Amino acid sequence: MKYRKFGKHDFTTSEIGYGAWAIGGSWGEQKDDESLGALNRALDLGCNFIDTAAGYGGGHSERLIGQVLRERQAAGKDESIFVATKTPPADGEWPPSPYCKAEERYSESYLRENIAERMACLGTKKIDLLQLHTWTRAWNRNPTPFKILRELQAEGKIGLIGVSTPEQDQNSVIDLMRGGWIDAVQVIYNILEQEPAAELLDVAAECGVGVIVRVAFDEGALTGKFTADTTFAEDDFRSNYFAGDRIGRIVKRVDAIKADVEGSSYTMPQAALKFVLAHPAVSLVIPGIRTIAQAEANCGVSDLADLPEDLMTRLHSHNWRRGIWYSGK
Ligand SMILES: NC(=O)c1ccc[n+]([C@@H]2O[C@H](COP(=O)([O-])OP(=O)(O)OC[C@H]3O[C@@H](n4cnc5c(N)ncnc54)[C@H](OP(=O)(O)O)[C@@H]3O)[C@@H](O)[C@H]2O)c1
Repeated sequence: MKYRKFGKHDFTTSEIGYGAWAIGGSWGEQKDDESLGALNRALDLGCNFIDTAAGYGGGHSERLIGQVLRERQAAGKDESIFVATKTPPADGEWPPSPYCKAEERYSESYLRENIAERMACLGTKKIDLLQLHTWTRAWNRNPTPFKILRELQAEGKIGLIGVSTPEQDQNSVIDLMRGGWIDAVQVIYNILEQEPAAELLDVAAECGVGVIVRVAFDEGALTGKFTADTTFAEDDFRSNYFAGDRIGRIVKRVDAIKADVEGSSYTMPQAALKFVLAHPAVSLVIPGIRTIAQAEANCGVSDLADLPEDLMTRLHSHNWRRGIWYSGK
């Protein structure tokens, strides 16, 4: 496992972190034993960063992580594992509308209460990185929630402060980085979603903001294992994410990527993770991991050679502006 400096901060994180959404729930059947085994395996392989959230099973993912860290400490393991979690906005529209008030969705009393809950679930007195789970650029001119988080930081309750980008407007965090409000950003960046390479990632590097890349497999699609006939259990959020004609459309895109990756020495999951790690602003990528086999496959990618330049160039052509009607279906 290779390690990178986390923005301007004085520690390093493993290139492959642990995405802990699926072990919390919403991804169909997931047994805790399997989750605990997967997380332990990833940590044994040098992963030192775990990403979770309040919303991943209402604290279930956080509780499993707390359990693993306590058990490993009790077993005498000398390691420093960095845990990032997220506080969602208080009840209301998701993502917040332009008319929502930051003071209402992330009020001081709500933030303090929710963060205390995160600590209780993780079993810790200090959160290493607290990320706001979503944001709207409507709040950029007066980002009151970050003022409250800076107070909590000064009180020693949280280490770093971050934000997870709203997927429909990831660039809304650029002003926050330039304003010095955030220490870390969590962003969607993958072979199909390359827009952050336009500006967001460079600004993060300029500002010394740690960059955590999420959804490197586009919820599994970029592993290349789906077909147009793939279906998901009702309690798997992907039954909605890939609903209707979406699964067929994405498989067609991924097949074209496969044709470019074929003949290289990389599998599709390896190419997807290496593509992300090729950007120098990226601190780490956090693939979702739910089995020991996935922990091994994904952690192993860090030590592989970088993707050759000609393959990177071919992969650049697969950027997909799927959210915009002008690009058509
Ligand atoms: N708004 C936010 O802040 C937000 C949103 C989404 C995610 N996240 C964070 O980012 C992390 C990563 O995103 P994600 O988990 O949603 O999606 P992802 O990383 O794109 O995909 C993860 C899924 O791909 C499959 N997989 C993983 N490794 C594989 C391999 N080597 N070969 C084949 N299949 C493999 C697994 O599902 P199956 O085995 O079921 O196929 C796994 O759950 C999350 O866990 C979470 O921590 C944050």
